[in-house]
Amino acid sequence: MSTVTQLSRRPSVLRMADGGIHFDGVKAVDGVSIEVRSGEVLGLIGPNGSGKTSTLNLLSGMLRATSGSIWLDDENLTRHSMRQRARKGVVRTFQSGRVFGRLTVRENVEAAALGAGMRRGAARELTEEILEELQLEGVAEDRAEQLTAGRVRTTAIARALAARPRFLLLDEPAAGQNETEAVELITAIRGFAQRRACGVLLVEHDMSVVMGTCDRLHVLDSGRTVIEGEPAAVRSDPQVIEIYFGKRH
Ligand SMILES: Nc1ncnc2c1ncn2[C@@H]1O[C@H](COP(=O)(O)OP(=O)(O)OP(=O)(O)O)[C@@H](O)[C@H]1O
Ligand SMILES: [Mg+2]
Repeated sequence: MSTVTQLSRRPSVLRMADGGIHFDGVKAVDGVSIEVRSGEVLGLIGPNGSGKTSTLNLLSGMLRATSGSIWLDDENLTRHSMRQRARKGVVRTFQSGRVFGRLTVRENVEAAALGAGMRRGAARELTEEILEELQLEGVAEDRAEQLTAGRVRTTAIARALAARPRFLLLDEPAAGQNETEAVELITAIRGFAQRRACGVLLVEHDMSVVMGTCDRLHVLDSGRTVIEGEPAAVRSDPQVIEIYFGKRH
């Protein structure tokens, strides 16, 4: 990786302490403490409706916590808007993927780098690296509006990476892709995160996809933490087995 695009950063932690949110009496997230460290991919998993997206939204500022607090190292972000958090480097992507349809994939990524304040030469260099890492080179000259839904999502992730976030929050980035494609995409994101000391929170419902691609896992059920730890330890946890496999046996 070139020195132009490499950032020297001190290690950092994005953290929610005892956070909660309820909607009309439904406790979507109920006293969850979770932390993402720079350079790691933390997989946030759990059954449908367990509070994964809500937790991600609490961290990004899309939702305001009704209890608990959000921290970037020792800075309290609890009252910060999504825009203020993005300025601090806490960035989320949207499931539909926000891209400019008329621009090519390359132009989309470069525009994001320029928009984040990079000089043209450095923006170009970073764009090439990201296109290569996310295997978008083959469609680099295609307009975004011509892409498949999966490629649009990958382009949106590429744009988010081009802004060089300190923390990137991804809600099911591999939705609609098969397991091999999902593993490839997440592995590429992980490589990027490790090399640039970016922390990634990755929401994903498929246990087999997160097993080999995440550094640590945090499991939710009914808005509460079941366990957080290394993938192997999480998979053999009796409560996790019950949640994920119990109903089928
Ligand atoms: N805006 C909202 N208004 C009312 N209830 C909501 C809202 N958002 C989420 N909920 C409820 O909160 C709970 C958690 O939802 P959330 O979307 O966070 O779960 P999830 O784990 O992301 O689910 P999925 O796997 O289906 O994406 C669910 O019971 C859901 O119906
Ligand atoms: Mg969700």
